[in-house]
Amino acid sequence: MKVTASELREKYLNFFASKDHKIIPSASIVPENDPTVLFTTAGMHPLVPYLLGESHPSGKRLTDVQKCIRTSDIDEVGDASHLTFFEMLGNWSLGDYFKKEAITYSYEFLTSEKYLNIPKDRLYFTVFAGDKDFPRDNESYEIWRSLGVEEDHLFFLPKENNFWILGSGIGPCGPDTEMFYDTGKEKCSPECNPACDCGKYLEIWNDVFMEYYKDEEGNLSKLKQQNVDTGMGLERTITVLNGLASVYDSDIFSGIKSKLEELSNLKYEDNLSSFRIIMDHLRTSTFILADDHGITPSNIGAGYVLRRLLRRTIRHLRKLNINDYVLNDLAGIYIDEYADVYPELLKNKEVVFSELEKEYNKFSHTLKDGERLFYKTIRHLEGNTLSGKDAFKLFDTFGFPIEMTEELAKENNLSVDIDEFNKCFKEHQEKSRTIDAGSFKGGLADHSIESTKYHTLAHLLLATLQEIYGKDVMQKGCNITTERIRFDFNCDHKLTDEEKKRVEDRVNEMIKTNTPVTFEEIPYEQAKAEGAHGTFDDKYGSIVKVYTIGNLSKEICGGPHVENTGVLGHFRIIKEESSSAGVRRIKGILE
Ligand code: ALA
Repeated sequence: MKVTASELREKYLNFFASKDHKIIPSASIVPENDPTVLFTTAGMHPLVPYLLGESHPSGKRLTDVQKCIRTSDIDEVGDASHLTFFEMLGNWSLGDYFKKEAITYSYEFLTSEKYLNIPKDRLYFTVFAGDKDFPRDNESYEIWRSLGVEEDHLFFLPKENNFWILGSGIGPCGPDTEMFYDTGKEKCSPECNPACDCGKYLEIWNDVFMEYYKDEEGNLSKLKQQNVDTGMGLERTITVLNGLASVYDSDIFSGIKSKLEELSNLKYEDNLSSFRIIMDHLRTSTFILADDHGITPSNIGAGYVLRRLLRRTIRHLRKLNINDYVLNDLAGIYIDEYADVYPELLKNKEVVFSELEKEYNKFSHTLKDGERLFYKTIRHLEGNTLSGKDAFKLFDTFGFPIEMTEELAKENNLSVDIDEFNKCFKEHQEKSRTIDAGSFKGGLADHSIESTKYHTLAHLLLATLQEIYGKDVMQKGCNITTERIRFDFNCDHKLTDEEKKRVEDRVNEMIKTNTPVTFEEIPYEQAKAEGAHGTFDDKYGSIVKVYTIGNLSKEICGGPHVENTGVLGHFRIIKEESSSAGVRRIKGILE
């Protein structure tokens, strides 16, 4: 069947709307609740708090198309299938329906004439085989069978294939059942099955049954509700259903492809790798720049990913002999293409254009100097390996993404000592991290929901102590586990029982106000001017994250925090003791 990207989006959302799902807009490309990653990597990512049990304002049945970025395979871009940006179609049950309805909906959407109309004999399914931790998913198997799926179209596979959790390995998780399209190719061997990557079976959809939670230590627990999280990669699915050889042959890329052919006077078919790198990287960059988070090219974090994508784009444009400034024209094609679905592209169009131009100008200036340094270095090179230190110098001084240095090296029959580069890069990151307020504060032990509650508690506790003992009270240390908080502050006397009670009561009063916890990223000076409290004044970067809890507290902090004070429960001091001269220590729990 032939289907375009916009048809697939529309069919998917309409189908689930007809099954009482609320259509919600795509969340930001940067996850609000997970500081362990730079970008949203799956449709469920922004929904984690709701999968853990918080109530979602739009109800228990949701559907959306989520913007996602996965950069782990960035070096593979250029082949037929890899993309750094993709859209994920998904439907969720937040403690509502479970396996039976989820599988029945999936099968109806895939096979019904009104929707994808895929011939049933083309579809194959995998279910979880079970292991020492989790039982075999016979239930899903039986549901597929009850819908008429033949035994030889069903496969039990192990955890590597049929169990899903976020890339960090922490969070809600569970066994899944995956749906595959048979391309009609010959089996590569008699054992060939959907787990085989020979290209006969291509995955198009994944229904995850999330009823477990895995914490940082690897401990598993049952969630308080049974959820369904599904994900269908849009680009991949239209490629498969249209029988295309590459994701870059789908309608999404046709506008940009012809523009590149026109500008370069070259054919896509003869320059696959450069065309695809530009098509992919510029699309991802456009979405990052248009996101309301205001990410701009830099040498760290998400800004560095963006810089690397853009600089690689520019380099490949040059390889295609496109030397004029064309980034705005090219990004404009994507903005037009997606504006209906993602209005932020239109809203932030001018920001996108001006940032593209700024980075282009910066890079053009440094490109020459960087290349000069590269050639100077290799002239004196003994052997044929460029040291990691030299590669890092190129990165640090000229903003040369390492893979560009590698490309240049390759062009000169050299290799790069990547291990050494990574060591230098890590040291650089650690240095930068100490100036990034958040990761410092309280020595963030983990990001499980329990310890996140204690992080928010720390803000309320400090605010309370300042209310009672005056604005000079400072946090002198903070240590958090999933079970308790240890909080040090300056104070010249032992707290009496009445004082401890007063602190507890006031914290609990604050908790009960059900105040939302919000944050913004603003210049440090502004944060200070607004009276935000900070602990390590001299170690902050120029832009800081400020968490505000209504008019109770305002602190510079990297988070993470809960979304509302109401979820903290009840605070109790279990111990009050001296920590060092003039510093008292409170140990407290939430119960
Ligand atoms: N969260 C699941 C995935 O990303 C649906 O595959």
